[in-house]
Amino acid sequence: MMRIALGSDHAGYDLKAEIAVALTSAGHEVVDLGPDNGRESVDYPDFGSAVGHAVVGNLADLGIAICGTGIGISIAANKVSGVRAALVHDVTTARLSREHNHANVLCLGARVLGTQVALDCVAAWLDTTPGEGRHLGRLDKIAALDAAR
Ligand code: RB5
Repeated sequence: MMRIALGSDHAGYDLKAEIAVALTSAGHEVVDLGPDNGRESVDYPDFGSAVGHAVVGNLADLGIAICGTGIGISIAANKVSGVRAALVHDVTTARLSREHNHANVLCLGARVLGTQVALDCVAAWLDTTPGEGRHLGRLDKIAALDAAR
């Protein structure tokens, strides 16, 4: 079981709530970084960065960040050093983001994915073991880019 940080903007709030229920039911600990409602318009960089900081700061093992498209919040999360945030759209990209890219933040677009597809993405991502071999050198190169900025 893992500690999973969740964050969204207003557009992702309802999906965040659905994912929180699913994760809790599966026995994971949810670290909900907000927002606490979907009525007020909020800014995705605030929540994408919060999820990223929670992961690299070891307040959570992994993070999930959600906005309308998943684009803005993935860009924001990836600005936090050590974050490998992946915007995924289906079970295949979710699985490969973990296997090949060791994504430590999963990003979802609530306005472009159905709820069940999003939940399937989360399940596939959590079920996938990060790959080794050829992937590790590539990840080292990403870490070097991160360290150089
Ligand atoms: C909010 O209107 C929207 O811009 C946001 O949820 C996201 O899609 C940005 O990338």
